[in-house]
Amino acid sequence: MKDFYKMQNNARKLLHGADYNPEQWNLDPKILDEDFRLMHQAGFTSVSIGIFSWTKYEPREGCFEFEWMDRLMDRLAKENITAFLATPSASKPMWMSEKYPEVRKVNREGLRERSGGRHNHCPSSLVYRQKVTQINTQLAKRFGNHPALGLWHVGNELGNHLAGECFCSHCLARFRQWLQERYQTLDALTEAWWGHFWNHTITDWEQIDPRDMTIDGMQVDWRRFVSHLHTEFLEIEIAPLKEHSPDILCTNNFMGFCPDFNYHQWSKTLDVISNDSYPNYDGTARTTRTAANTSLEHDLIRALAHNRPWLLMECSPSMVNWMRVNKLKPPHVHRMEVAQAVAHGADGVQYFQWRKGRGGKEKYHGAVVDHDARPDTRVFREVVEVGNMLDDWKGVLGSTTPDSPVAIVYDWESGWALNSSFGIKHPPAPQIGFTDASKELLLDHHWGIWNAGAGCDLIFSDENFATELSKRAIVSAPILHMAEQPVADALLDYVTDGGTLVLTHRSIVVDQSNRVHRGGLPGLGLHEAAGARIEEINSLFEDESVGIRATKTFAEELSGTYQTYEAFGCLHLDDAEVVARYTTGWQSGQPAATRKTHGEGEIWLVAGNFDDNFYNAFYKMLVQRHQLAKVVDITLPMGVHATVRENGETRFIFIINYTPEEKSINIPEGVCDSRAIPLSGSHKLAPFDVCLLQHPV
Ligand code: GLA
Ligand code: ZN
Repeated sequence: MKDFYKMQNNARKLLHGADYNPEQWNLDPKILDEDFRLMHQAGFTSVSIGIFSWTKYEPREGCFEFEWMDRLMDRLAKENITAFLATPSASKPMWMSEKYPEVRKVNREGLRERSGGRHNHCPSSLVYRQKVTQINTQLAKRFGNHPALGLWHVGNELGNHLAGECFCSHCLARFRQWLQERYQTLDALTEAWWGHFWNHTITDWEQIDPRDMTIDGMQVDWRRFVSHLHTEFLEIEIAPLKEHSPDILCTNNFMGFCPDFNYHQWSKTLDVISNDSYPNYDGTARTTRTAANTSLEHDLIRALAHNRPWLLMECSPSMVNWMRVNKLKPPHVHRMEVAQAVAHGADGVQYFQWRKGRGGKEKYHGAVVDHDARPDTRVFREVVEVGNMLDDWKGVLGSTTPDSPVAIVYDWESGWALNSSFGIKHPPAPQIGFTDASKELLLDHHWGIWNAGAGCDLIFSDENFATELSKRAIVSAPILHMAEQPVADALLDYVTDGGTLVLTHRSIVVDQSNRVHRGGLPGLGLHEAAGARIEEINSLFEDESVGIRATKTFAEELSGTYQTYEAFGCLHLDDAEVVARYTTGWQSGQPAATRKTHGEGEIWLVAGNFDDNFYNAFYKMLVQRHQLAKVVDITLPMGVHATVRENGETRFIFIINYTPEEKSINIPEGVCDSRAIPLSGSHKLAPFDVCLLQHPV
């Protein structure tokens, strides 16, 4: 990999910065002076600039004005603050969308969007692509060697708007062409899409319309195609940047578990992986669960970065302005949020946004600097505190997270398949499309794994799958819904080699065209290996549930009673051991979870959406049975969580209290705090407190 640290002018600090839009203030010299004074006070190292500045650069077609950016870049160099210079494609000039209507998206109803808004360009538009190439070439030539430039911030949250979809005639034609390349013949397409159903036999490529939600195979291909269009777009953006500034790395800020795009594919085009994350940390007890979900999101980003350092490109220093209820973060929660990202491998944290604008949609969105521009505010003080913490923690820079013995399998295509299949989970009317039935199940399993304390990595069912599996003692694949034989074989080999595999009622159900595997589920040899199959799946209303209790053999480890929600499978037993049974309703007495051993290896089939207590007990049992070491050798109270980063010399232990209560831990001999001061004995963690310990490897 190219030098990650180049992006911060070799300052060798954890990055701390924000989206910075001084052009909204016409680069008013007084405001600029104030900005830099405050940025230094906050310990800033970097800013993202020019994200929405196309009209400033090109106020009229072909007339370019870059002097303002020259001044800003020069100033940044002088202030020793690194620029993450954006390409401005995330919003387009009015003159452009008026003169070239085809750059505007066409929505599902066939209506072309009006000018304005943002993120709403047609991803296949040739005019837009040409304009992007032109402006990016100019930017790369002019600023590619500027001493302030640290990183290309390519566009912004690529695809963010209407799930990246555009239904203009050009996008539809491109889809049809993409399908022709994939399937070659209409017969093959019909076969893949189960086209004899409801007269969905396509007899002319022109008949294909991705808005038909009843063709579930097409829905998956449509999502593949939309991801592909954006990969192309990204490549077009990056080409001139690489041509004129080959040493500058490129990133695009992802949106976490965004279900719409295959980030795994996009990440291959990018040098640095970065993410925008806005967890709803309201400071109540819910914060702990949100923390677990956010940890998983960070683990996903870390996995996309191949476990190399990544950047938290955006988070809010206080509230956002787009949730139904926009909560302030209570004291210390912001520091906790930043620490959490670093604890999960981030080498820098930036905010949206540096300063609140006076107008526009985001004038009330949280910012480091409020309208009164005072440093004596709660938010500013906390940002200063974060700056100090990141400075203290600079030794962490470049360290990585050791492999965890527990992993969860993730892929985007499974989500598309599951969520485009009728009968799984219906969206509340009048929502168009499908509810994300997969993410909830994923988060539930992760919650159990998180609490079990032995760490968690996210792995992909890609060409490295077998290698990744071989490093793990326990692999959970709760939502690996779509799979072909090589993936199933890798799982079977893993079990034969002594691995512990967890499957659910959603695992290994369909092939790459969203067609159900024949001969029993989980398919492709897995139910045979599991010794049980999911025969039926029942659904539950929100106020319904069915009880579950462990069988005698497992009663000690899975003590107590548990509940189902949403959906649960009825298992047909072949030769598996029953782990738990349903205790209420007409399914009472039927197996709810099973286990089947293969030498040292085993498959656990957990047949439904069960409650949190079940997953907590279940994964605790697996971790204990494997005698897996906890991430740290310290007893942690519920809601206090630890992660580790290492470089060749030092092991860094991040301990974070994700609860609104004070907690205490007992620190063993031989560790130091972040300033290398020895620490041991009882240590109190205030609500939302963070603590970094270190010791030589
Ligand atoms: C996204 C965008 C930013 C801003 C924030 C607000 O992450 O990238 O431009 O709109 O949301 O939370
Ligand atoms: Zn289009």
